[in-house]
Amino acid sequence: MLNFKEKNIVITGGSGGIGLAVAERFLAQGARVVLFDLNEQALQDAKQKLNNENIETVQGDVTNTADLQRLVDCAGRIDGLVCLIGLFVPMAFVESDENLIDKMFTLNVKSTMMTIQSALPAMISGSAIVTISSSAHVKPLAMGGTLYSASKAAVRGLSRALALELMPKGIRVNSVCPGPINTERMAAPMVVPQEMKDQIAESIPMKHLGEPEDIANAITFLCSTEAKFITGEELAVDGGLTNL
Ligand SMILES: NC(=O)c1ccc[n+]([C@@H]2O[C@H](COP(=O)([O-])OP(=O)(O)OC[C@H]3O[C@@H](n4cnc5c(N)ncnc54)[C@H](O)[C@@H]3O)[C@@H](O)[C@H]2O)c1
Repeated sequence: MLNFKEKNIVITGGSGGIGLAVAERFLAQGARVVLFDLNEQALQDAKQKLNNENIETVQGDVTNTADLQRLVDCAGRIDGLVCLIGLFVPMAFVESDENLIDKMFTLNVKSTMMTIQSALPAMISGSAIVTISSSAHVKPLAMGGTLYSASKAAVRGLSRALALELMPKGIRVNSVCPGPINTERMAAPMVVPQEMKDQIAESIPMKHLGEPEDIANAITFLCSTEAKFITGEELAVDGGLTNL
């Protein structure tokens, strides 16, 4: 059993499909959790659902430094930072334009960088950062995922290099690479129909989608002292999709 008693955990995108499961797992292990999200209603719904006195919410835009500073001020000392915000817009590369390139890289890469930069002054030796990449950066998606793959590869590169840079400060940095996870939206702005989910499941060696709890287990482990000798790691949680 992991123990996060008296630990402050910040989760950006914390009321999303995966974020909620991550928050639930940290709370169950005694953490104080601060959820950050653009969607105030989703934050309030998450708070109601999680029903725990150790939860706080901050509404804001992850691309806005003033909003990120409010998040850091609310958190105080940050023992674990989980950067979950991401965007997947399925579109063929040849049909995409500069606008979409900017949007995908802002939400998936730049926002992760800005979040970490804002949080670092509040992080001390022994703390941990987890970024979220995707199996798609190794195993490209069949449906218009080129920009997504490229942006998630950048998140991976960022995490690895940061792990080295922040090592003297005693801060570990790891990345989790989910395969297809059974969330309502699967990180897309549209709802994925069950028929498509079944097809995706067929392409996974384990023949089923992952659950948000699978990602929550990996993230809490990487933030915990049980993982104190692990940094610069890329943990695939994908039913064997990328490695088999
Ligand atoms: N679901 C999957 O199958 C899957 C697979 C691989 C990787 N991932 C990655 O996991 C992460 C979470 O995925 P999810 O399915 O939970 O996504 P989601 O869309 O359910 O949640 C994302 C959350 O981020 C918030 N958000 C969006 N833009 C924001 C902004 N500018 N400022 C603040 N908050 C903002 C949204 O309101 C939402 O609550 C993403 O980075 C995604 O790329 C997901």
